[in-house]
Amino acid sequence: MKLAIGNDHVAVELKKIVAAHLRELGHEVIDVGTNSTERFNYPISGYKVARLVADGQAELGILICGTGVGISLAANKVSGIRACVCSEPYTARLSRQHNNSNILAFGARVVGSELALMIVDEWLNATYEGGRHQTRVDMITEIERTGELKVALES
Ligand code: RB5
Repeated sequence: MKLAIGNDHVAVELKKIVAAHLRELGHEVIDVGTNSTERFNYPISGYKVARLVADGQAELGILICGTGVGISLAANKVSGIRACVCSEPYTARLSRQHNNSNILAFGARVVGSELALMIVDEWLNATYEGGRHQTRVDMITEIERTGELKVALES
């Protein structure tokens, strides 16, 4: 699978560990950086990874900053992106199975490298279940596209 990965200055080392792990598993990794520990504004890598995923140049994306929050907020502003901050494997698995997450985010100040790799593996091994979950994902998409949710406005 082709994956995009990006991070800020807080997460350079963890990003390298995750990218190496992905390559060991046989995935192609597009690393948008940063690879410097100089202060770096996380929306830049959040946007770059989101763009690659939204445009179909990467199937999935992984984003790492201090908490995973800022970088996922930036990614979620790109249409079609469902970036989820997951600090443990259960949420990571469910974010794929139920929410069809296409970007996984976590924090280098929150999780250690062993836990990060467990989170990544659980996320990659999970499959979107569709069915009743598609109705809800479609609602999220409706809010994204129109700024409104018709069913909520009518009730
Ligand atoms: C950088 O200090 C920090 O704000 C960033 O890594 C991230 O945690 C933001 O959400």
